[in-house]
Amino acid sequence: MPKITLNIGNVLPFLNGVKPSSLQEEISRINKRMEQGKVSGSDFLGWRHLPSQMSGEILKDINRTAKHIKEQSDVFICIGIGGSYLGAKAAIEFVNHSFFNQLPGKKKKTPAIYFAGQNISSDYLADLIDIIKDKRICLNVISKSGTTTEPAIAFRLMKEVLEKRHGKKEARKRIIVTTDQKKGALKKLADKEGYTTFVIPDDVGGRFSVLTPVGLLPIAVSGINVADLIKGAKAYEKIASNPNIEYNPAYLYAATRNLLYRKRKTTEMLSSFHPSMRCFAEWWKQLAGESEGKKHKGIFPAAVDFTTDLHSMGQWIQEGKRNIFETFLIIQRSNRSLKIPHLKNDDDGLNYISGRTLEYVNDKAYKGTALAHKEGGVPNMTITVSDRSPNSLGQLFYFFECAIAVSGYLLKVNPFNQPGVEFYKKNMFKLLKKPVS
Ligand code: PA5
Repeated sequence: MPKITLNIGNVLPFLNGVKPSSLQEEISRINKRMEQGKVSGSDFLGWRHLPSQMSGEILKDINRTAKHIKEQSDVFICIGIGGSYLGAKAAIEFVNHSFFNQLPGKKKKTPAIYFAGQNISSDYLADLIDIIKDKRICLNVISKSGTTTEPAIAFRLMKEVLEKRHGKKEARKRIIVTTDQKKGALKKLADKEGYTTFVIPDDVGGRFSVLTPVGLLPIAVSGINVADLIKGAKAYEKIASNPNIEYNPAYLYAATRNLLYRKRKTTEMLSSFHPSMRCFAEWWKQLAGESEGKKHKGIFPAAVDFTTDLHSMGQWIQEGKRNIFETFLIIQRSNRSLKIPHLKNDDDGLNYISGRTLEYVNDKAYKGTALAHKEGGVPNMTITVSDRSPNSLGQLFYFFECAIAVSGYLLKVNPFNQPGVEFYKKNMFKLLKKPVS
């Protein structure tokens, strides 16, 4: 059962009669060329059939390792940057309790999960070390290239903490490496030290790797059923295999945002009304930004968190420069439901909504916002996902991977490389006087 729907009703009035179906032929051509492996970047299309080709052995291995980590640790540190951490963090926040790490012992059968290696901040790492140093620690260092500076620095520091806490020999058993099958400094180190290792498939790039061990291991450690996640992705793989935008919402989304871009709507805001979507939006920002922003083209991906940001960005969105469009990402059913209590004296004037659930009010906030933004000149569409289950999330991951890949090809860029990321590194290494190898 598809758990994702797309409504583009509030976009159509802005397209002056041009319909997304006008891109059908182009999309069918792109789809065919992807199937034939004839697109630029075709070495990185492995994500397309990952869900349907996921072996039971890999899932078993991931679950076995996750179980071991859960038994052996109070804290689990995931070290990685970009595509090597955002998907896992997004999933953990999407599915789990809002205060996952703080849940009291009895309610919690999993270690607290922290992320490192996604910045170069002494404050962040030193503060993290403060709170973990006396705990039982396991560590997962994730890097496809195995050479990325930020996670390498964090790994060095965290390994020291781990060895101090558990001793060198035991520390070795508490380090899990997720990296390339053959190359990179991390792979060499893993072989030398005999760390448990998971492989990132050659044909899956970082930002498309959430459904490989990159994302699956941390997600499994957090208690999420990864088989359900893959099942959801597999269901969407099937839906997305249809090139017809009438039956494939991922392609309809790609077509719609491309038409808006052609109308000079160059910034897309992913707007959600649920705090559990915050990191999902970060994952989407990387996916869209790194895949499309090339050759001086690309939609700038931004994210807002409503209703919070309606009190900070709302004014700009309603009346600022009209170069934006908006994609609402709505969760139909919350995990829990609170009702607004009735007060006899109604001092705060809220009795008109007493007895209503917070979801009811949130839904009216969304509908009111969508209408206001449309009237203010912001085309908007809505992606609705039925709930916060792993299955729905699997569908959502696949939906966006598929849509963004096609969006890249509609812009005539290779969605799977990121040549621009090298420029800051080159300068940084020069300033750091890194020896040339
Ligand atoms: O999408 C990508 O390939 C990148 O954003 C990477 O995920 C990111 O740079 C981290 O690279 P690595 O996993 O090689 O450390």
